[in-house]
Amino acid sequence: MNVKALITTFKEIFNTTPERAFFAPGRINLIGEHTDYNGGHVFPCAITYGTYAVARKREDQLIRLYSENISDKGIIEFNVNQLDYDKEHNWANYPKGMIRYILEAGYGVPTGFECVIKGNIPNGAGLSSSASIELLTGVLVAGLFGLEITRIDLIKLGKRVENEFIGVNSGIMDQFAVGMGKKDAGILLDCQTLTYEYAPIQLESHKIIIMNTNKRRELADSKYNERRAECEEALAQLQSRLPIEALGQLSESEFDESQSLIPNETVRKRAKHAVYENVRTLKALAELKAGNLKAFGQLMNQSHISLRDDYEVTGEELDTLVEAAWKQPGVVGARMTGAGFGGCAIAVVENEEVETFIANVGAVYLERIGYEAEFYVASIGDGAKEIELGS
Ligand code: GLA
Repeated sequence: MNVKALITTFKEIFNTTPERAFFAPGRINLIGEHTDYNGGHVFPCAITYGTYAVARKREDQLIRLYSENISDKGIIEFNVNQLDYDKEHNWANYPKGMIRYILEAGYGVPTGFECVIKGNIPNGAGLSSSASIELLTGVLVAGLFGLEITRIDLIKLGKRVENEFIGVNSGIMDQFAVGMGKKDAGILLDCQTLTYEYAPIQLESHKIIIMNTNKRRELADSKYNERRAECEEALAQLQSRLPIEALGQLSESEFDESQSLIPNETVRKRAKHAVYENVRTLKALAELKAGNLKAFGQLMNQSHISLRDDYEVTGEELDTLVEAAWKQPGVVGARMTGAGFGGCAIAVVENEEVETFIANVGAVYLERIGYEAEFYVASIGDGAKEIELGS
């Protein structure tokens, strides 16, 4: 991705030159799915695909935003004192919400600014393009106006945009991964306490392949909120006997012994996934640290099966990709990543087998689903940051 091209667009659109440049990545989650809002652990990493911005402060109170990806919306303009959600403002509601909450947190944004952004995260792929825009706005506004906002506060404000401004009841994983990502490292995050550790991911003989279903994630937000409500119901029922604050506090055996407190079978399955997936995530980190990539891959596979059968968030497209991946030579493990209901899966594949893998899985997918999947090699990169204007 070329920042120079963004500068050219900026000059064309705003008739002046930008002062600063910023970047925020997308993310994949290696394991620990639908555990963040259950007080469990996640293990995501930032990827080198992301969203870029070039920007310049203005003298007046106007904020003027232009996205090269959604250029048909043109320049979206609003006042720094007028930051209500507006459907017409489309993608710009993410930056708008972020600016609003930065102001509400007591930081001064004395003037407006103008900005051109462009992302290379595949569209609607569930690789957290929205968290990427939120954190991009965070580092941009903090950078332009010299605000000393801690990274964790920016992450929390980004989550608030998602929950309150946009209306998706998501957990903190995406904003955390996008905000705290580090080159060649996964982040093991305890979502209850927000304590975390980096785990080096050095897969010399393997690559992480992202497989995009290219399925539109329709109704995904309402189903997401439904899953979350089911977990809350299960937690309330378990709390009638157990002194817990979150499903993530339970071991597998503690859950097994108490699961009869949850009368509804569907709700029970959801809770089982949350508990078992959390335990799997901790096991996965231990296996990775011990260099047992094979065992790590098996945990990835179990994660997918649990998301398919107990949490029911996979669907035919993701299952087709992952089940085809499992059958290929050189595959250590494969699973869906992110919220599910379409979006992307990931697979860990031996270097020499990558080409065959893509050809074979792609062919199975096309045959069964009727349109093509896309494949990308994931590189693990840094979190949101200012970058050189000349880069
Ligand atoms: C989405 C949400 C995250 C997390 C995942 C599922 O990406 O934004 O908070 O819940 O789904 O693990």
